[in-house]
Amino acid sequence: MIPATGSQFPNIKNVPRYVFGSGSRHSLGAMVDARRAASGKPAAVFLIDEFFSADGDLPKALGVKDGDAVRYVDVAEEPTTEAVDALLEDLRAAGITEPAAIVGVGGGTTLDTAKAVANLFTNPGRAENYQGWDLVKNPGVYKIGVPTISGTGAESSRTCVMTNHRTGLKLGMNSDYTIYDQLILDPDLSSTVSRNQYFYTGMDAYIHCVESLAGRYRNPIGDAFSGTVLNLCREVFFGDDMMSQSGREHLMVASYLGGCALATSFVGLVHPLSAGLSVVLGLHHGVANCITLNALPEFYPEAHAEFRKFIDKQGVSIPERVCADLPEEKLVEMFEAATLHEKPLTNALGPEFRQTLTRERVVGIYRRM
Ligand SMILES: [Fe+2]
Repeated sequence: MIPATGSQFPNIKNVPRYVFGSGSRHSLGAMVDARRAASGKPAAVFLIDEFFSADGDLPKALGVKDGDAVRYVDVAEEPTTEAVDALLEDLRAAGITEPAAIVGVGGGTTLDTAKAVANLFTNPGRAENYQGWDLVKNPGVYKIGVPTISGTGAESSRTCVMTNHRTGLKLGMNSDYTIYDQLILDPDLSSTVSRNQYFYTGMDAYIHCVESLAGRYRNPIGDAFSGTVLNLCREVFFGDDMMSQSGREHLMVASYLGGCALATSFVGLVHPLSAGLSVVLGLHHGVANCITLNALPEFYPEAHAEFRKFIDKQGVSIPERVCADLPEEKLVEMFEAATLHEKPLTNALGPEFRQTLTRERVVGIYRRM
């Protein structure tokens, strides 16, 4: 077993507490109040996906009180180091020096933003200083995650992915301190997502586990998580309606367990190539993963075939020809952004991955997307 954390026997941390079930979101206010009492700090920070900004009653329903800071997270672009720094600066300018808790309510972008901001409240410097493995030195602010869409595993993973436009690096703060202290897993919250988006994001959990099981760093615990996740995804995506109550429940569990799987292993080839699409074209993670898997039957033949069956069964669509008309230099830029991800590529292909992933071959794969 090769560690995610750099030592021979990684000491895995998971989310210490979660509540699960329809209606469990109503326990959030009491949880935040308990943190106010325990920390002696009155103010909490609520970072909410902008998707919910039109719902004027939501902050009160979440337990927001006078003196708390509420910010709607712009999810048009996935988290960037610049946006995370700007949000922290904005909160500090509003007088929030160290809140009782940070609550993230939303999809992967919002959940990851909340994790990054929580770490930066207690660690000096800028977001880009902590892109990498185990660079965060101090525990972050207590954080509560409330996912509203399932698949990324952001709720249970030990990273918070951010794109750094200055360096071209799409990498998170991979740290035990990045893990949420508390989750509220309420499948009611994912009922209003569009079908395509629900599918793209849900497939992230499936792809995490396909990559993990096909990798060189497999281990019995990661395999157990991954196998369970794949079975849950099959139940959801071969079901009559992937968005039924039971579909949403099962996908929420798959997403959570997929994040746990990643704590013990690595992704493979899909995520680095998908990151190239995100960095250069700004495509979101879920859809970029689907576009990538769609172009990789040669590397993941069984998963590719199953993915195509899911698409047919659920009647969703995957964007095509997103790279077909791009100039060569953009494709080379993608190749370079993708091959920065040495750990997952080594997991997928071994340390000599560059012999397989030549520039010509990767550019050819991108051209097929
Ligand atoms: Fe992912």
